[in-house]
Amino acid sequence: MAPKKKPAAKAAKAPVKTVNKAAPKPTKSKQQTAVFRILRGSVVGGKLVQKEQEFEVPYDASTTVLLALEWIKGELDGTLTFRRSCRASICGSCGMVINGKGRLACKTKVADALYGNAGKNIAPAKDGVITVGPQRNQPVLKDLVVDITPFYNKVKAIVPWVQSGAEAAKHVDKDSFSQVNMVSNCIMCGSCLSDCTAMVENPDFLGPAALAKAYRFVADPREGSKTERLRELSEKNGIWDCTRCSMCIDACPKGVAPMEAILKLRSGAIAAGVTDNAGARHAMVFKGDMARWGILNEPFMLLKTLRTGVLGQIGNALNLLRVGKVPNPLPFHERPQGLDEVKAIYAELERNPIDVQTKAADSGPGAG
Ligand code: SF4
Ligand code: SF4
Ligand code: FES
Repeated sequence: MAPKKKPAAKAAKAPVKTVNKAAPKPTKSKQQTAVFRILRGSVVGGKLVQKEQEFEVPYDASTTVLLALEWIKGELDGTLTFRRSCRASICGSCGMVINGKGRLACKTKVADALYGNAGKNIAPAKDGVITVGPQRNQPVLKDLVVDITPFYNKVKAIVPWVQSGAEAAKHVDKDSFSQVNMVSNCIMCGSCLSDCTAMVENPDFLGPAALAKAYRFVADPREGSKTERLRELSEKNGIWDCTRCSMCIDACPKGVAPMEAILKLRSGAIAAGVTDNAGARHAMVFKGDMARWGILNEPFMLLKTLRTGVLGQIGNALNLLRVGKVPNPLPFHERPQGLDEVKAIYAELERNPIDVQTKAADSGPGAG
């Protein structure tokens, strides 16, 4: 009889890393509690009245913020009002502000909101309290529910369908789908609009979601009215009103990256000759100054951008002058270091321009 084989020695287990010793994340079986501070509100006599209210909620590793809100509604306060439907990051209903950022409640784990999760770009809750509030830049109806009519009106304003016209391509390449695919993932959750810094200053700005959708039609080879679209999008409240803060890229739960779409629309507008507006002029003067001087000729930049509209900025200019913040006009500047390299980069880009419209692998702020 053959001798029995000795069982193989068990491989030594790698030591388990503790992510945060002071505040360990819950395991599936271990339930803990988290404190939620919810900004509640209702309209009284035509005026929004808001107050914060705290709730203590049990959670484990799988509990989402949406489940926590449902637990509060079922067990503690049935009047808590919020939207939700799919619970699977598909319908876009549960957009709200969690720890100061636009997020989907059904996609945000309580443990991540509490302790942070760098991989998901989630910062830990301040003072160990998860804050939840309604989306910004939209009128609040009750508690966490906002009026999404303005948001949908912005999307309607960009004519969200393919139009017939002379610019429609006769043959549609399969690859062209890659250009519209990214923005087609939008679930209209409003998180980008909620975090948009330009919207705070100008509620009439079309906003990231509507402009991303506009790009989807400009990039569609079947679209017959591309130049006219670019012309309309270049007007006030359109593509040139974006401050390029990239908050919409951070906020989007579906990787749409609206700011990248806006930058592509800007490049497309200039390439199509839609340049008779302050935004396009500013971009072109900026590029011209950098390519020639390696530095901006700021006093003249404003004049070249705004033309006669510069007269409206005289008050601002005097204020800047008073506090010594008006830079010297060129050529009173010193020649900047590295000017030859800057010129070489621009010369190379002239010879081999980057086709931002077909650069599918964009990622990160400023890409495209
Ligand atoms: S990058 Fe532009 S569209 Fe996006 S959040 Fe900032 S201002 Fe708004
Ligand atoms: S672009 Fe992203 S964040 Fe904005 S509405 Fe669409 S899915 Fe939501
Ligand atoms: S409930 Fe549908 S996206 Fe969250």
